[in-house]
Amino acid sequence: MDRTAGGSWALITGASSGLGVEFARILAAQRLNLVLAARGIDAMDVLAAELRTAHGIQVVIEGIDLAAPGAAVELKRRTDARGLRIDLLVNNAGYGVHGHFLDGDRNTVSRMLQLNTVALTELTHLYGQDMAARSHGRILLVASLLGYMATPEYAAYAATKSYVLAFGEALHDELAPSGVTVTVLSPGITATAFADTSGHSVSATLKLMMMQPRAVAETGIRALFAGRASVVPGIANKLSAFSTRLSPRSVHRRIMQALMG
Ligand SMILES: NC(=O)c1ccc[n+]([C@@H]2O[C@H](COP(=O)([O-])OP(=O)(O)OC[C@H]3O[C@@H](n4cnc5c(N)ncnc54)[C@H](OP(=O)(O)O)[C@@H]3O)[C@@H](O)[C@H]2O)c1
Repeated sequence: MDRTAGGSWALITGASSGLGVEFARILAAQRLNLVLAARGIDAMDVLAAELRTAHGIQVVIEGIDLAAPGAAVELKRRTDARGLRIDLLVNNAGYGVHGHFLDGDRNTVSRMLQLNTVALTELTHLYGQDMAARSHGRILLVASLLGYMATPEYAAYAATKSYVLAFGEALHDELAPSGVTVTVLSPGITATAFADTSGHSVSATLKLMMMQPRAVAETGIRALFAGRASVVPGIANKLSAFSTRLSPRSVHRRIMQALMG
């Protein structure tokens, strides 16, 4: 065991790209040591060098495929073996699958379910237990605005994010007495590799609604440290989420189909 790895650590999944990179930069600036986890080791190496130099923190890289069954247990085993105390977990890794459900690749969808829901749940369980035992910890779950509404063309992806939203908000209340804060961040469309990975050629209308990843990540971390249950970044996204309370679900589906088709 690496006994030199003392102090407080944050674990960020999906730290090779997009929102994960910005979460890492924000937490590094707060002088937290970081574990970066994703498959893209080269990108994380570059980020780690940047953060060590800029902030003098320790950064550990874990190359791992979190869509593989058992990956959450493996990641926990690795951080335990290094003797790291994870006080903050950002469950951010995820991807979408855009297009007609029946035309999509089943394996790609199954891996998405495993990554977006199962790995996220298992990581929350594994690290949440340790945090509760210390009566202290913070967990940020990255959902999506699409978690607020059934979304044709993103049917399975939106459903994974509905799961994350409901799971995280419930845990916020359930774990509060144990000293563990759980916060759900539900971004709208954000300028990352997400749309490309999803196979989504984004329309001009959607591009107008795009937020920058730094602003989205800052909103999430601020909400986490403020102990909030849930946050939607950006005024337009907030209005969209709120509108789901005011009008029929069939109307949202039609709007989302027009926007996402
Ligand atoms: N951008 C948006 O419009 C948007 C909107 C709402 C919610 N979100 C959510 O925000 C989160 C971050 O996405 P992003 O926008 O930053 O997209 P991104 O730039 O594509 O980043 C996705 C991250 O997830 C990691 N990841 C993907 N598959 C993985 C796997 N099998 N194992 C481990 N890590 C994996 C990727 O790393 P590797 O490929 O290196 O493994 C990458 O670091 C996701 O949960 C996404 O659903 C995004």
